[in-house]
Formats: sequence, C-alpha cells, structure tokens
Amino acid sequence: MKHLLSIADLSQDDILAILDTATSMHEVQDREVKKLPTLRGRTIINFFFEDSTRTRSSFEIAGKWMSADTINLTGKGTSVSKGESLRDTVLTIDAMGVDMMIIRHPASGAPKQIAEWVDCSIVNAGDGTHEHPSQALLDAYTMRRELGELEGRHVAIVGDLTHSRVLRSNLLCLRTLGAQVTLVAPPTLMPAGIAAWAAADGFEISYDLDAVLPTVDAVMMLRVQRERMSGGYFPTAKEYAVTYGLTARRLSLLQDHAVICHPGPMNRGLEISADAADAARSLVLGQVSAGVAVRMSILYHLLAGEGSTS
Ligand code: CP
Repeated sequence: MKHLLSIADLSQDDILAILDTATSMHEVQDREVKKLPTLRGRTIINFFFEDSTRTRSSFEIAGKWMSADTINLTGKGTSVSKGESLRDTVLTIDAMGVDMMIIRHPASGAPKQIAEWVDCSIVNAGDGTHEHPSQALLDAYTMRRELGELEGRHVAIVGDLTHSRVLRSNLLCLRTLGAQVTLVAPPTLMPAGIAAWAAADGFEISYDLDAVLPTVDAVMMLRVQRERMSGGYFPTAKEYAVTYGLTARRLSLLQDHAVICHPGPMNRGLEISADAADAARSLVLGQVSAGVAVRMSILYHLLAGEGSTS
C-alpha cells in the first residue's frame, strides 16, 4: 500500500490489519517515553489547505512518536498565496525528497490528483465533501474497542450528510466490516440519489431519529457544516436540534450498551446536546485518543509495513 486516498481502496483484511496494528500503537500513549524508532530518517509533510485541530495535530504527534521528521504547511504561509499552482507547489515539496505528504484540501479529489503527480506517499486527510479515510478508520477502531467486532452491529449516522466526507468514508468502512448502517437526516440534508445508493450498497435511510435510536449499537452524530451551506437547509437551529439533535430526552431511547460518537468539532446544542456529548457512553474523547494510534498505524503500513513501497 503506497497511498491512503479512499476507504474504497481497502479490503476488509486491509482495514482489520490497520485496526489491529493501532491496538499495539495505542499502548505507546501510556508510556512515559513515547518514542518508537520505526520511522527514523523519514520525512512527513502535513499540508493542510483547510483548518484542522484533531487531524493535523494527531498526524504530527503520530509521526513524532515514530521518530519521523514532521513539518507543517498551510496554504496561507506558502507560495500558494502568491499564486503558485497546486501542481507546482506539491512537485516542489516532492523534489526535496520527502517520504509522505498528508493532504487536507477543500477540493474533492485533490489528494488523488496529487498522488498522480508526485513520487511520495499521499494520505487524504479530508478532501472537500468526498472522503476522510483516517477518520473512518479511527471511528471503526473506537467502536470495535467498545462493542467488539462490528459485523452485524447496527450504526446510525445522523445529521448533515450532504456535506459530509466523514459519512462517505464511514459508510464504506462500516459496510466493508459487515455492520448494518442507517442514515438519518432531514430530506434537505440527504445526499442526492440516496435511495439508489442505499439499494446498491445495502444500507437503510430514515427521517425518524426517534424510531431508529432504540435499535442501534452506536449512533454517530455529524456536524452541521454551516460553512459549506449556501442556502436554508432547515428553518432554524432550534428546530433542527429538536427534530434531529441528540437531545437529553433522546438519550433515554438508546439501549444500555449503545455508544455515542461524533468526529468533531461539535456544535453543542445543535446536532448534539451537552448531556449527550459528556455522557458516560460518549466516545468523543476516545475517538480523539484513538486518532493518534490509528494514524501511527497508517504511517506504519504506508512507510514501514509489509507491502509498503518505501
Ligand atoms: N474530525 C476532524 O477532521 O476534525 P479536525 O477538522 O479538527 O481535523
């Protein structure tokens, strides 16, 4: 495996190998000296053309804990702001002999295009509304840790599905692992062509969150992405929260063992209440912690593991 561009490129065995390696990597977090020699002498560029807290810092921590040299770049501080093209920019970085670029970009497909231009490994850290594969892998890792194997488990993914790259990667990942998935959103936030997509890929859709919640093992709440919305997708924030938010009342609809996920950043009081975000069954901070371990595993599989091209 040279690149991580889409969950669609991974088999069930590939996904399970990444999750299993992440289990060993997670132990590093509890050590006093958090350092493995695995990627000594390797250089990794975090190149983020969009803002990020979790993904950028966890990839950087993952690289540092594995002894790689890590460098952070953003569109603003580079010659992109002087008009240099994306192709010239990434070819310039590649010519310095780096081993990997981790790319977040507002354009869907940008990491795939960059992978065709350069020699180094490319990781998609979120591209437009297309995919966010490392997020789906860390979500699967977190749920599997809590619920056991995900085959046959029922996961509801709820919220702004139209604008969500996390949805697309999670749907692919969960279906590949054999989970049952139900998407829940208002009609205005369901992706176009969802009925045909659901029929082809074997997942359910619903507009009734109260009916779905008692049947799930995990509910994943997705952020309302107001920065990607050009029109009115729902009348008011209050109406959205009442109809599709994980409110305190809705927590009582969940089975005792059911868990709550949110990839972050959260809009508290909109798609998720403070009661839900901070509940004992909330895995939100567990997802963040898993993010470092899973990203260490991704770096390992792409740069050091069997089948890596480096
Ligand atoms: N979940 C996620 O991608 O968060 P960041 O935008 O903070 O990286």
